[in-house]
Amino acid sequence: MTGLTKDKLVIDGGVPLYGEVRISGAKNAALPLLAATLLAPGEHVLHNVPDLRDTRTMLQLLESLGAHWERQGDTVRVNTETLTSAEAPYDLVKTMRASVLVLGPLLSRMGYARVSLPGGCAIGARPIDYHLKGFEVLGVHSALDQGYVEAKVADRLKGGCIRFGTPSPTATENLLMASVCAAGETRIENAAREPEVGNLVDMLNAMGANIEGKDSNCLIVHGVERLHATTVSVIPDRIETGTYMIAVAACGGKVLLKDCVPDHLQALSEKLQLCGLVIEAGASDMLVYCPEGERGSECALQSIDVVTQPYPGFPTDLQAQFMALMTLSKDTAIIHETIFENRFMHVAELARMGADITIEGSRAVVRGSGRGGLSGAPVMATDLRASASLVIAALAARGRTEIFRIYHLERGYEKMAEKLRGLGARISRQRE
Ligand code: EPZ
Repeated sequence: MTGLTKDKLVIDGGVPLYGEVRISGAKNAALPLLAATLLAPGEHVLHNVPDLRDTRTMLQLLESLGAHWERQGDTVRVNTETLTSAEAPYDLVKTMRASVLVLGPLLSRMGYARVSLPGGCAIGARPIDYHLKGFEVLGVHSALDQGYVEAKVADRLKGGCIRFGTPSPTATENLLMASVCAAGETRIENAAREPEVGNLVDMLNAMGANIEGKDSNCLIVHGVERLHATTVSVIPDRIETGTYMIAVAACGGKVLLKDCVPDHLQALSEKLQLCGLVIEAGASDMLVYCPEGERGSECALQSIDVVTQPYPGFPTDLQAQFMALMTLSKDTAIIHETIFENRFMHVAELARMGADITIEGSRAVVRGSGRGGLSGAPVMATDLRASASLVIAALAARGRTEIFRIYHLERGYEKMAEKLRGLGARISRQRE
C-alpha cells in the first residue's frame, strides 16, 4: 500500500465541474462477492471489481486462506480450489470490518472458522451479534477466544428462521452464504434490501444456490448439496455515484455520470431535485447540472432535511456528503442520522472551513451560508465517507484546502483525484 498516512489532497476550490465520469464497481458489492468465492472450489471470474484498499485487503485475506487470484484490468480471477486455513487474522480484520464476511462461507465450506472480532470503527460500535445469533440458528456453536470468534458446526448446517432487529447488509450477506448449502430451508426476515445484497443473491444462484425473494425484506434459501464456481459482474457503486451528484450540486457545472444505475439513487435524487439540481436519468447514465441562477451563477441551494434509513431510504453512506452540501444552502437543514451512533466526525472538520453546524443527539442542525460560504483550510479525514464530505466542501470552498490521512478516502473511491481532475477540479495528491 502506498504511503498510508503520508499523503494529502490539495484542492483549490471554486471551480464548477464539467465533463463526464465513469462510475466504478461497488465496494460494498465486491466485498461479499469476493468472500462468496470461498463457497465453491474452482476459478471464479468477477468483472467490474474496483481497485481499492478494501478490495485489496479482501484479496489479501482470501490469499491467506489459500486462494490464488490475479487481476486483469477490472476483472479479477479467484481460484479457491484448495483452502489451507480458516482463520482471518486480527491484523487484516482490524483494517476492514467487512472481513467478517468470510465467516459464513468458511462455515459452509469447512464447517469451522476463526475470525478476529472486528472491533468498533470511527462511526460506531458495529457489533456482529446479528451474525452470531443467526449462525446459532443454523446449528453453529461460537465462542469468544482472545478477541477471536471461534465458530464450528458439528456436522451439516441446518436451515432455520432468522430475523434481524434492524436490516444489516453484511449480516444478511453472511447468513445467505452460510445457509445456501444447509439442510432444508432458511428464512431471513427483516433482511437488508440494498442492491449489493441482490448482487450477491444473483451470484449465489448462478453458483447453483436456490434463493427466492431478491430485493425483498424476506429471503428464502432452499439448501442445495453443492455449488460450483461462476462468473459475475459487480454492480455500479451507488454511493460513488451519489457522491459525484452532490459534488456537482455543490460546485455547479454539468456532468454526465456513466455506467451507473439511476434507480439505485431514488431517495438521494428526490432530495437533490428539491435542492435545485436538475437530474436527467438514462438507462445507465445520469446528466446532472444546476440551472442558471441570476447573474449567470449557479442557482441558490434550497435547505432540505434528510433522515437516514435502510435501503431504499436515504443512505447513511451519503449523509456526510449531503451535509457538506447543506452548509452551502440558503437556510437551515436538519440531518438526522438513525443508523450509526457516531457518524458526525466530519462536522468538526467542516466547521474549520466556516460551516455552522450544531449537533443535537442524532441530529445535526446545518445553518447554510449560501454558495461561497466556505473557505479553504487544513482538515483531517477520519473515516471513508467523512473524507468524501471534506472533498466536496473543499471543491466548493474559496481558496485552498489540504486534506490529510487520505488513506481513508482510498478505501472506497477509485481514482477520485483523477476523476475530479478530469472534470476540471484543481486537485492533486501530494506527500504530507
Ligand atoms: C454496510 O455495513 C456497509 N458496508 C456500510 O458501508 C453501511 O454504512 C451499512 O451497511 C449501513 O448501510 C458494507 O456493506 C461492507 P452494520 P454493515 O454494521 O452491513 C446494526 C461504507 O461507508 N447491527 O450491520 O456492516 C448496526 O448497529 C460502509 O461503505 C447490529 O446491531 O452495517 C447498525 O445500526 C460504512 N448488530 C445497523 O445494524 C449486528 O450484528 C447496520 O450496521 C449488525 C448490525
